[in-house]
Amino acid sequence: MKYFDIQQFSYRRLIQAADGPLQADVYEVQRDNNKYILKDYSARPKLFRRTICRWQLRREWLALLKLRHVKHVPKPIAFGGNKLLMSKLAQCKASINQDNSDSLETKVAQIHQAGVCHNDLHSKNLMLNQTQAFIFDFGAATFSPKDNNSLSDKVKGQLFKLCQLIDRMAVVKYKWKRDRKLLRPDEAHLVSLVEKTRWLSRCWRRFKQWHKQKSHSPNNETVNSP
Ligand SMILES: Nc1ncnc2c1ncn2[C@@H]1O[C@H](COP(=O)(O)OP(=O)(O)OP(=O)(O)O)[C@@H](O)[C@H]1O
Ligand SMILES: [Mg+2]
Repeated sequence: MKYFDIQQFSYRRLIQAADGPLQADVYEVQRDNNKYILKDYSARPKLFRRTICRWQLRREWLALLKLRHVKHVPKPIAFGGNKLLMSKLAQCKASINQDNSDSLETKVAQIHQAGVCHNDLHSKNLMLNQTQAFIFDFGAATFSPKDNNSLSDKVKGQLFKLCQLIDRMAVVKYKWKRDRKLLRPDEAHLVSLVEKTRWLSRCWRRFKQWHKQKSHSPNNETVNSP
């Protein structure tokens, strides 16, 4: 099943409403007693829908296809018409411990081995139970080049290595924020990189807050205007 009709799904629950023109509305949908997650960009402005949203959706679909064999990553179900359907991961919210942090590292390594980098690993895009880590939201994924023959492939290969580093830094940052005892001595250089680049994440956070306020303000004006 590639293109699909959303009417086929009996039950639809909004999990997350889009918070800007680049975000999807995320629904839980059900068919034959199976629950799925639907990411839907169809209500976004046309310009975004046809450019960045399409780009994000294709990336996520491609990444999920490449990661079909990796456990605890959503399975791709269907794709088309500004929508993407994937399997639903069981909800869990355990705090980090030795077992699930090992699982998180193994999972990230498996994802990289499959030729995919996540690039947006943070607490809202992963879940932990007592022993396992679950990773989702591959809309910013990048892929390793097939071979290293041409100059452009070599450049892409180097960029992929940089993205791998970014993912590993994200895992270290996650541990660093929650339980520093889980950091290993061989991760010291990543910890120092995380500390050195804190200003970057601070700027990015401020930019996102500013952008959120900006995109909400016209609506507020309309609502408040007499
Ligand atoms: N496969 C899945 N299984 C279970 N829950 C999921 C799945 N995919 C997404 N979710 C839930 O939906 C929420 C939003 O999904 P996702 O992060 O993919 O959307 P997004 O538009 O990229 O949002 P954001 O920009 O905030 O990261 C997640 O925080 C998670 O709770
Ligand atoms: Mg997300």
